[in-house]
Amino acid sequence: TRPIQLSPSMMCADPFALNEVVASFVAGGVEWLHIDVMDGRYVPNFTLGPDYCRALAAACPVPLDVHLMVEEPERHVGLFTGFPNVRVSFHPETVRQPVRLIERIREAGASPGIAIDPGISVESCAHLLPLVDQVMIMTVNPGYAGQKLLPFCLPKLTRARELLNACGNAKARVEVDGNVSWANIAPMVTAGADILVAGTSSLFVNGRVEAAAIARMRELA
Ligand code: DX5
Ligand code: ZN
Repeated sequence: TRPIQLSPSMMCADPFALNEVVASFVAGGVEWLHIDVMDGRYVPNFTLGPDYCRALAAACPVPLDVHLMVEEPERHVGLFTGFPNVRVSFHPETVRQPVRLIERIREAGASPGIAIDPGISVESCAHLLPLVDQVMIMTVNPGYAGQKLLPFCLPKLTRARELLNACGNAKARVEVDGNVSWANIAPMVTAGADILVAGTSSLFVNGRVEAAAIARMRELA
């Protein structure tokens, strides 16, 4: 079986417990910290931004997995590409020239990814798949934690894996974002996910994380 990576969703953390939460992720060896950036336009909500990323990167060595849920990401991407080993994913329909943006992210020394909304097909992004390090499949509508899985999105994980392999980019990863619950982990991994975004459905309880939960997640994956 392929190695599964964990990317806990930091918007789910209680801001008053951040030291504790981050310490548990460092101790648990999570591979990424998932950072949801929302602009109140592409999605109705507002969340984390570059100052938060700076503080987090200074406080801990786990690389950031930045998920831009913003219109015109080409205006803002430079605020996020400067962190060590950072990955930056955007939604291709938010930008006129997605290929140019992927190139810019890579030229800035960051790792480019695309994120695929429930309303966007994997096929419509097929031409971008050879160019990215990661394809994030959203299994809820972007904008909020704590939503229910949209089951029709699960086959998109398989489709993303197939198309990545077929275009010679088998080393790229397939990330799943949205309602990665204890019950949904197995079907998601079976369908092709190799990075799990863990939020309120699994790791976070009242914005805090128990060490045992991280271990349990690794066992299930
Ligand atoms: C969406 C985010 C989170 C994530 C949270 O882009 O990354 O909101 O879905 O996890 P859950 O769905 O478990 O609350
Ligand atoms: Zn996200």
